[in-house]
Amino acid sequence: MSDMKQRAAEKAIEYVEDGMIVGVGTGSTVAYFIDALAAWKDRIAGTVSSSEQSTARLRSHGIEVIDLNAAGPLSLYVDGADECDPHKRLIKGGGAALTREKIIAEASERFVCIVDPSKRVDVLGRFPLPVEVIPMARSLVAREILRLTGGQPVWRDGVVTDNGNLILDVHNLSIVDPVAMERELNQVPGVVSVGLFARRPADVVIVGGEPPLVL
Ligand code: 5RP
Repeated sequence: MSDMKQRAAEKAIEYVEDGMIVGVGTGSTVAYFIDALAAWKDRIAGTVSSSEQSTARLRSHGIEVIDLNAAGPLSLYVDGADECDPHKRLIKGGGAALTREKIIAEASERFVCIVDPSKRVDVLGRFPLPVEVIPMARSLVAREILRLTGGQPVWRDGVVTDNGNLILDVHNLSIVDPVAMERELNQVPGVVSVGLFARRPADVVIVGGEPPLVL
């Protein structure tokens, strides 16, 4: 699948324009995008990064990383996903960067999602849904998730997010109304963010292939 990821990432470079500040997601597909973006580093105004991992890779190429507060609204955000449905709604957070990813997606006019073909599904939920939680609320949130969704929350043991929080991965979901589930889970005290990108889905999905498919 890595060549499919690379093809999707390289296609996304077509959305980069001179002078842009580019929002950059996290993950193995985005790593290819960062590598391709290196050729643009003197033409763009900089990047806003969604994780320490992506920041390190961007800086290793000499690409400038800017604080979102200083950057203001962004015209482009490029990120991967763990699942993508036909309405461009996503599950994200396999790399535990969902909260910053969601913030940058919200700040961006156009969200270009880059995936390999295995990420396409009809109904979201086969991939366990990541939920970032405040550490003291871990058990409370897990009980609430079970009650509200029927899914099985599993603590991603040993993982601490860039924000100092924990991840619960919710198994055995079939998410027929992702907007409603995103809204409902967001309201549980202790939930920092939910890895459903349904209220603000992707605008463009690029599926790696020969040639890449643009949805
Ligand atoms: C990180 C993410 C990633 O975009 C998602 O996990 C996909 O990763 P990859 O490109 O490695 O398959 O949401 O939090």
